[in-house]
Amino acid sequence: MWLCSALLLLSTVLCIPRTVSGLGSSCSAPLGSGTASSTDPYWLETIKHQGTSPFNSDPNSYQIFRNVKDFGAKGDGVTDDTAAIKLVLDNLASAFIDIRVHSAAMSSGTRCGGGSCAESTYEHLLLARFATDSKTVVSLRQSTYLVSSPINTYYYTEMIGDAKNPPSLLARSNFSGFAVIDADPYIPNGWGAQWFANQDNFFRSVRNLIIDMRQIPSRNSAIGLHWQVAQATSLVNVVVEMSTASGTNHQGKQRNGDYLHELNLLTFRAGKIGIQVGNQQFTVRNLIINNANVAVSAIWNWGFTFQGVTINNCQIGFDLNVGGATQAKQGVGSETIIDAVVTNTPVFVRSSVASNGTLPYSLVLNNIQLTNVPTAVGVGNGGYHPRRSAGRIFGKARPQYADYATSQIISVKSQGAKGDGRTDDTAAIQNVFNQYAGCKIIFFDAGVYYVTDTITIPAGTQIVGEAWTVILGGGSNFQSQTNPRVVVQAGTPGSQGIMEISGILFSTAGPAPGAIVLEWNVHDPSGQQGAAGLWDTHIRSLGSGEVRVVLPENTAPTDKVYLAKGTNMQEANCPAGSVNTPCQAAFLGIHLTSGSSAYFEGTWVWTADHDFDAIGSPQTSIFTGRGILSESAGPVWFIGTSEHASLYQYNLVNAQNHYIGFAQTENPYYQPVPAAPAPYNSSSTYHDPTFSDSVNMAWAMNVQSSSNIILFGAGFYTFYQHYGQTCLTNNSCQTHIFNIDSASSVTVYSVSTVGSTYQLSVGQNGVVSQTDNQDGFQSTFTAWSN
Ligand SMILES: *[C@@H]1O[C@H](CO)[C@@H](O)[C@H](O)[C@H]1NC(C)=O
Ligand SMILES: *[C@@H]1O[C@H](CO)[C@@H](O)[C@H](O)[C@H]1NC(C)=O
Ligand SMILES: *[C@@H]1O[C@H](CO)[C@@H](O)[C@H](O)[C@H]1NC(C)=O
Ligand SMILES: *[C@@H]1O[C@H](CO)[C@@H](O)[C@H](O)[C@H]1NC(C)=O
Repeated sequence: MWLCSALLLLSTVLCIPRTVSGLGSSCSAPLGSGTASSTDPYWLETIKHQGTSPFNSDPNSYQIFRNVKDFGAKGDGVTDDTAAIKLVLDNLASAFIDIRVHSAAMSSGTRCGGGSCAESTYEHLLLARFATDSKTVVSLRQSTYLVSSPINTYYYTEMIGDAKNPPSLLARSNFSGFAVIDADPYIPNGWGAQWFANQDNFFRSVRNLIIDMRQIPSRNSAIGLHWQVAQATSLVNVVVEMSTASGTNHQGKQRNGDYLHELNLLTFRAGKIGIQVGNQQFTVRNLIINNANVAVSAIWNWGFTFQGVTINNCQIGFDLNVGGATQAKQGVGSETIIDAVVTNTPVFVRSSVASNGTLPYSLVLNNIQLTNVPTAVGVGNGGYHPRRSAGRIFGKARPQYADYATSQIISVKSQGAKGDGRTDDTAAIQNVFNQYAGCKIIFFDAGVYYVTDTITIPAGTQIVGEAWTVILGGGSNFQSQTNPRVVVQAGTPGSQGIMEISGILFSTAGPAPGAIVLEWNVHDPSGQQGAAGLWDTHIRSLGSGEVRVVLPENTAPTDKVYLAKGTNMQEANCPAGSVNTPCQAAFLGIHLTSGSSAYFEGTWVWTADHDFDAIGSPQTSIFTGRGILSESAGPVWFIGTSEHASLYQYNLVNAQNHYIGFAQTENPYYQPVPAAPAPYNSSSTYHDPTFSDSVNMAWAMNVQSSSNIILFGAGFYTFYQHYGQTCLTNNSCQTHIFNIDSASSVTVYSVSTVGSTYQLSVGQNGVVSQTDNQDGFQSTFTAWSN
């Protein structure tokens, strides 16, 4: 089997026989293409809505799916729909009053946030806690919704337009407020205070939406999207229309101070700035900017990967504010751009600082095609030569099944799964797969599906979650470190077929020291790159409201019960600095086995470092053995992050043909107390690295016996030494963080590190020192290969 792209010649030697996916027992024919007629509404609107939020204080009445038209929005382009859309999102905002008086009395519909909730830190976080119990999907049917003030979004909110015909949010000419959609609003007169801590602003998605700002006078500083978010967030198929007037002050998107990761299919038209970015790290894939003055204005970052950029008729493509080599002068630390097509734009990259042979930042340009772009790099003579070549890194957006009819979707709740967070759904879920794999799209209605043994998803299966449906493994089967067991098995070893999983959270109820949360075996069929993958799908170990110990049947999951008992892994049981056996969340997050291929986009493998349901978001000591182990011969495309596992975040062993970008990791805050690998043991069966007195912290990435690995942008961070941060002053929190053995062939671009003495080690001997590459708060090296 041969798969090619520009950077990656992806060849796979098949060493095990492949089993082509079969069909479920209730299938008469394969699913095939969508059968919806062009006038049918998008299936998401017409399916039976039975998602629930089981740990909400009133799960029976809390409404997950809310169609804005049911809340009074007209979508006729004439009526002002702001209040109706806000009602959908806020839902009973007046209940905030109750919370201040007595938290347990809060009304079921209350969401996190709201202008009134952040008058003090205490109330702000109190509301954030409840927010994790409430999930919402908002549906916007194809229409034009007139809005006059910002639509503020909340934790666990998906705003979804009709995928067949995306609706518009049309800002009125007298629109007033910071941004048309605001994911982290500033509190009025709050001296810069915001609704959410930006590094913890998780679980948001906006899909299939046009934000139209053209009625706003061009002199007004209007922003389409203020997307100040962290992990587990996505924008898919979002278009921002801005003024084409000269001197316009419109901006498509602004981000500042945030973390994260995944953007997809974004189109910006006109405006002063297409997107303005200032944040730690991000991957942006498939960005199109037409007719803007500046397409991308970058203020600061530690590392940033742009994959697939199209810029037409702008004045400047990338405008980089480059600072100095110290934190005080933090500017753009590294800009890493692959597969760009730039047309009729005078300058592709403009750096604010000229090069004299060295630059205080890192710039990597790969496969850049310039047509009528007189200046490739505007300032600087540092030898950047855009390389042209034909192919691009493969990419595939989250499947939305826009052409499928409601009859082609089957709900797991309709098939008997409960998703109530306590019933054992193992058999019910397995049964749905066994019957309908390959002939229906399997819809996991919002809920928490508790499973006590391995569930196997046959190759050929397509799964869609709703507002991050949770599949939660727990119980006696997942207790043995020496005999770990898989919770969710995607395909069996050697299997081949489609496997599409989107919008799901795989998790465990603690303790589960023997749980391999997801084992990935499936390989895409010949000629179908990316047919097997994950989109907006995450692995999460605890620290949140959705994942709790199974309560005895008929116990009301009241606030009191879940604060006291929780998952056994919330702050009360696993406070920072403790090493408690019940706080072992998993043996391994994701295991890609040797015969698999994988396309993972926006996958976050997270061991919770803090309890975001508890007041003040206290830190926790929760232990996951390993983040991601790949033994895959490829092809693998991985856009994602892995954080806080005890032994490593990524371990590539006998791996081949991987493209990874942007890889972001954080090490556990507790190490070296206990020192890695504790409380787990190194396992030769799972090819674990070994540790010693001098190597006693987790690896961000460890590469053994692997070939054709391309790392296109990485941020490997260690911020703590046993919860203390004095080590950051001289980046001595740990000595080594990124290890490659001498047998592997690896090419890395733009690796930023924080807190580690060496940025790269070969055979555990440091070869790149952070002191040589300081670039702001982080240190960045531009390229390395062997
Ligand atoms: C915006 O204009 C509309 C139509 O003229 C008017 O009804 C509305 O009150 C105005 N809103 C504001 C905030 O001025
Ligand atoms: C380039 O400028 C930097 C900062 O001013 C200076 O430290 C360095 O020595 C210069 N390099 C060359 C080759 O002139
Ligand atoms: C880890 O290894 C040590 C030393 O061999 C042993 O005492 C301990 O029981 C092991 N722990 C587990 C969880 O296997
Ligand atoms: C960092 O600073 C500490 C305290 O001054 C010192 O003990 C340590 O040796 C330093 N480490 C490095 C790598 O410079």
